[in-house]
This record gives sequence, C-alpha cells and structure tokens, in this order.
Amino acid sequence: MKTKHSGAKYSAIVGIGEKLSKLERETGKKYLKLNRGIPSVTSIDLSEIIPMIDFNSPKIQVYPPNSGLPELKEAINKYYFHDSTFVDNIFITAGGINALDLVFKTLDVDKIVLPEFYWGAYANLLKINSIESATYFSFNELKVNANKLSGSAVIICDPNNPVGNKYDDQMLIEVIKVLSDNNVVVIWDSPYRRIFFEWAEDDFYVKLAAIDNVIITDSFSKAIGLSGQRLGFVHTLNKEFNAELNINILFATNGINAFAQILVTKLLTTEIGQKASQKFRDKTKIDMIKNIQLLRDKKLLAEEFYQSSIPVGIFVILNKNEKELLEAYIGSVSMAYFTQKSKEHGEKFARVCIAVPHEEFKEYFDRLLA
Ligand SMILES: Cc1ncc(COP(=O)(O)O)c(C=O)c1O
Repeated sequence: MKTKHSGAKYSAIVGIGEKLSKLERETGKKYLKLNRGIPSVTSIDLSEIIPMIDFNSPKIQVYPPNSGLPELKEAINKYYFHDSTFVDNIFITAGGINALDLVFKTLDVDKIVLPEFYWGAYANLLKINSIESATYFSFNELKVNANKLSGSAVIICDPNNPVGNKYDDQMLIEVIKVLSDNNVVVIWDSPYRRIFFEWAEDDFYVKLAAIDNVIITDSFSKAIGLSGQRLGFVHTLNKEFNAELNINILFATNGINAFAQILVTKLLTTEIGQKASQKFRDKTKIDMIKNIQLLRDKKLLAEEFYQSSIPVGIFVILNKNEKELLEAYIGSVSMAYFTQKSKEHGEKFARVCIAVPHEEFKEYFDRLLA
C-alpha cells in the first residue's frame, strides 16, 4: 500500500495537549491548559433549547439541503449581514476549517498570502491543496503592494489567532477595498469577531459583503462555544465561484449535520437562544478583560505586538517562552510555531488562551512571579 504525503503536519497544539496530560498523570500536578483554542470561561447553556428540537422529524433524520438549511441561511443573512445579501450566497460547512478547505479547493489563485503570525492550519491546508504561500508583515504593506498581488489571495484574521489583537475596522475596510480593486481576493477568516460584537451593533459584514473579491469564512465554534457541533459558513458574491463551491460541498460532505444546523438556528433566532448566546459571550468577555489587565499589571504582555492594534483575546502573546510557562504549570504554544518568517524571534514568546476563568488564571500567574 502506498500513501500520498502532502507535507502537512499533525497539529503541534494537539501534541502539546497530549504532553500536558502525560505530565499531569506522571506528576499528579494540575496544569492550566492555555495552549487550547476555545473559550472556556463558561459553556453555553442549551438546557432550554434542546426541548425545542424534534428529533423525530425528517429534517433531522434525512439528508439536509446541500448548501445548508434555508432557515439557518436566512438567520445568518439576518444576524450577520442585516439582510443585505442573498441566501444563495451563503453555504453551510462543517466548521471553519472545512469552510477554508473548500475555499482553497475552489479558488484559482497564484498563491495565498498569510500574515507574519498565523493559525498553523492555514499552511497545512494550503499544502494539502498544493497552493503556494507567501507572507505579509503589515496592512500598509498590502495596500502599497496591492497591484503586485493581482491574481493572488490574502487571508485576514481579526481579532487574530495567534496574536489576539484587533485593528481598526475602517482601516481594514479601506485596505480590503484597495486589494479587491487590484484583483486580489481577500479571504476574511475571523471566527473570533462575533464574541466581541453583538449583531445589532455590528455592520462590518454588511460592508464586507458588498465588496466583490471578498470571501468570508466563519464558524460557530467560538462565537457560541460550539466547536463540537462542527458548523460554519462561507459567503461570496461571485456566482461562478459559488456554483463550483456547491459541487465541491456535495462531494466532500453530502450536506452538513442537520441537528447542528437546527440547534444553531434556534440559538440565532429565538429569544431564549439569543439570551443564552449573549450570556456566554458576556461572561467570556468579562474574564478576558480581567485576564488581560492582570497580564499588563504584571508586565507579562508582549506589548510589542500591540503597538498599532489592541489586545482583545481570545489569545494574547506573553513575553515568556513555552518552557518558562511550563515550569509554572502553564500550558502555552511557542510563537515560533505560528510563523515561517520569524521563527527565531517567535521562540522568545508564547501564545496563551485568556478565555478561561479569572480566579484560576490569577492563581497560576501569581505563582509564576512568586
Ligand atoms: C483563525 C481560525 N480560523 C478558523 C478556525 C476553525 O474553527 P472550526 O473548524 O472549529 O470552526 C479556527 C479554529 O481554531 C481559527 O483559529
């Protein structure tokens, strides 16, 4: 038997998690697992939502429509796009990673340009799809060189994984418009944004969706804490791209889990669901703000990453390395893992997830400096 090797690597973050569990078993000590990438201040309370779902209905028991349940796509149009787009431009996927993989399969570009520090899965998905990658170091660089990037695509993640910083929305829209006008496709992959902005006060997707060469990939893993449900979506205005994406979704998935789609529809559209979602986000944000303040007070935040942007979460960068944090029983991920161009520099820093309960966070960081 022969195996095809794409060159993609199994996630180092999963490896770190396994290492920490082993250390816990061997030492009997509990580690604070800030290497993880999910908000875990609290979990969303689904107890009042589940009774609303009829498991004996064909909607749950048979194949869902290929591009997603119409009621979920309508809810996404309403709550993410303020009804400014068409449901035909929205495609439901098995989470954000599946959305990105499908986009990479469907898009015909010379290369895809990634930020200096990026979520490792981008590079692995590009390898699997045999797409060249390159690096950008700032939004100004993208703006100034937009004409040279014609025929390529750029990924923007804001708030960013791994840096956890947020840039000014107006500046981002300006850069994206310049890129689009120069025939550069912008893949907007920002599944953390919705944690920080409630739909009614956020018209960013309305503005984004109106720009031609923009593909939005999003996920319900972070915004409502349901990474187990594997649900996300893709949005573009491009009809040719959408027709091909629809074919690729069919043969990659045969439709996306109907239960997950109904569950998320209820969370988006019912008053009880909206309250449960908002409570999850509010609790998450309160502890993240406290955790950032604590890190700032203790001078542990790597301020050089937050000169022209602000740290918001769900990650931040610390000026300690992975080994130093491990000695204080704190799990983290070295920044060297998130970059191709700045590995040596990255080794001095570590990414931690700050979306964890403040009291526990404080206990470990007090001990680190004791
Ligand atoms: C930047 C970014 N995009 C997309 C995803 C995909 O999330 P999921 O596949 O859980 O929906 C993640 C998950 O960590 C992420 O950090």
